[in-house]
Amino acid sequence: MAEEEGTYNRDSLKNTFIVAFLLCLVCSVVVSGMAAFLKPIQKYNKELDIKKNILTSAGLLVEGSDAGPRGESVEELFAEFQVRAINLKTGEFVESVDVSTYDPIKAAKDPSISIALSNDEDIATLRRLENTSLAYIKMDNGVLDKLVIPVRGYGLWGTLYGYLALEGNLQTISGLGFYQHKETPGLGGEVDNSKWKKSWQGVSLFAQGEPSVRLVKQRSSPGSREASYEVDALSGATFTTKGVENMINFWAGDLGFGPLIQKLREKNAGELAAAR
Ligand SMILES: Cc1cc2nc3c(=O)[nH]c(=O)nc-3n(C[C@H](O)[C@H](O)[C@H](O)COP(=O)(O)O)c2cc1C
Repeated sequence: MAEEEGTYNRDSLKNTFIVAFLLCLVCSVVVSGMAAFLKPIQKYNKELDIKKNILTSAGLLVEGSDAGPRGESVEELFAEFQVRAINLKTGEFVESVDVSTYDPIKAAKDPSISIALSNDEDIATLRRLENTSLAYIKMDNGVLDKLVIPVRGYGLWGTLYGYLALEGNLQTISGLGFYQHKETPGLGGEVDNSKWKKSWQGVSLFAQGEPSVRLVKQRSSPGSREASYEVDALSGATFTTKGVENMINFWAGDLGFGPLIQKLREKNAGELAAAR
């Protein structure tokens, strides 16, 4: 039925727009308010997740648990680590960097604080490498107990991000874990399989000073020298497997944390000699 001229039309085009606009405004205020409210919680959870990954790779946190073997909290266990900024080229500590806010992955995207890698150098398919990264160091009575380094590299579908932990001898792997990847569950995604991750414990990293981890379909005879550098390949996931092998050897090598590992080795030898 047509409305009389001059009467209020609730369903007019103008009112429809006003209601739609007000609804959008209210929704955007609610969404942005929620985002601002949740941001610190998300940041805390992200940091907690990183700490858990570092502790789990170092074998200090039981996988999937939020507590240490004696019921210690993640924060308590993580407090035993020094977080140091590392000049990857020299292996020296960089005191001018605020480690609480520094992000090496972000830094790798900034040409002023990173370098481009040549094809020959870039075995982990990173394209760019940050000048400064972070390392997590745990001392025990003045002697190095654990070194945890961030690792990343391309698998099949994207970059895998994780941590590699070494024992204080800087030769034996104490664990490897990934906190982010895009590999297929059941194939490349088996990088998260706890049994496979456990198989990294005790593997030797360096042969004649060179990072030499190999992911193999057929293991060398048990007890042989070759076998000590080997980890089982992931079945049906050749690309992910090669990606993991390459990234470990890249980050333990001269362009990665090799210079830091060399420096810590010399320091460790000096401290052990002094203790004798
Ligand atoms: C849907 C789909 C998902 C796959 N996901 C992965 C993966 O995450 N990682 C990987 O290395 N290969 C993956 N592959 C398999 C590769 O394409 C390739 O066939 C495999 O790496 C060969 O490994 P193999 O020599 O161990 O059989 C996937 C294949 C398909 C069809």
